[in-house]
Amino acid sequence: MPEADLQVALEAARAGAAVVASGLDRRVEVRYKADADPVTEVDHRSEMAILDVISRRRPRDPVVGEERGGRLPEEGRVWLVDPLDGTTNFVHGFAWISVSVALWIDNTPAVGVVVDVTTGDEYTAVTGGGAHANGSPIGVSPLKDFGEALIVTGFPYQRRERLEICDSRFRRVLGTAQGIRRLGAASLDMCLVARGRMDGYWEEDLRPWDMGAGTLLVTEAGGTVSDRSGGQIGPSGGFVVASNGHIHRRFLDTLAEPTLSGRLP
Ligand code: IPD
Ligand code: CA
Ligand code: CA
Repeated sequence: MPEADLQVALEAARAGAAVVASGLDRRVEVRYKADADPVTEVDHRSEMAILDVISRRRPRDPVVGEERGGRLPEEGRVWLVDPLDGTTNFVHGFAWISVSVALWIDNTPAVGVVVDVTTGDEYTAVTGGGAHANGSPIGVSPLKDFGEALIVTGFPYQRRERLEICDSRFRRVLGTAQGIRRLGAASLDMCLVARGRMDGYWEEDLRPWDMGAGTLLVTEAGGTVSDRSGGQIGPSGGFVVASNGHIHRRFLDTLAEPTLSGRLP
C-alpha cells in the first residue's frame, strides 16, 4: 500500500511541478496573504493540479493544502500539500523552489515526495523503505562535531514581530557551528540534510505542508527530526529541528541556551 501511495504522491507532485515550471521566467502577479507572505496564481494552479490527482486516485482521503486549507484529522490518513515551496524565491527568479506532497497516517509520516522544480530532482521516501533521490538511496552526513556543522534555516513570516527571538537563536548557532545558510524553501532545505549536503536544519513555526515530506526524507535517510525539546513532531509542524542525528543533542542545546536575561527565548 505505501508503494501505491508513493506513486500517487509522485504523480501529484509532478503535476504541480509542471505548473510551477511553466510559470518560471514569466511575469506573475503577486498578492500578499500577510505581511511578507506572498502568493501567486501559480501557487493556486499548482495546488489545483495536485488536488486533482489526489482526489481522483484517493477520493476519500482528506487533504490539507497551503492555499485551499483543510483540517488535520485527529487520526487516519491525510495528505499535506505545498504547491510551491519558496514562493518568495519564485517571484524573485531565485532557483530554489519545490513542490512537496506527503501522506501522514495516524499522525506519523508514511510517504514523502519533494520535487526540485529547477533541476527536476525527485526526492522520495516511504516509511521503512529509506530515502531516495531520483531512485538512488541517499543518506545523511557522518559529521559528529557540531563545531564543523553547516546548518540551514528559515525564518517565520511573522519574524518582524519576533526579530529578537530569531536573532538570538541565529547568533548562538552562528557562534557555535561552522556556518549557516538561508535558502528559502523548507522542504528542499530538509532534502539537503537528507542527502548529507547540510548537517542540520531548524525553523520555528513550520506549517504542515512545509515539513510533511521533508520530515520523512530526513528520518528515512538516517537522520533525526524533533521539536525543540527533542520530542516527536506531529503533522501540525511548529518548531522543527532536523539533523544527521550525531549532532542533534548539541544542536538542541545550542538552540535552547538561555538569553543574556536568563530567559529561554
Ligand atoms: C516558506 C519557505 C521558507 C520558510 C517559510 C515557509 P512558502 O514556504 O519554505 O523557506 O522559511 O517558513 O513558509 O511560503 O514559500 O511555501
Ligand atoms: Ca512552504
Ligand atoms: Ca507554498
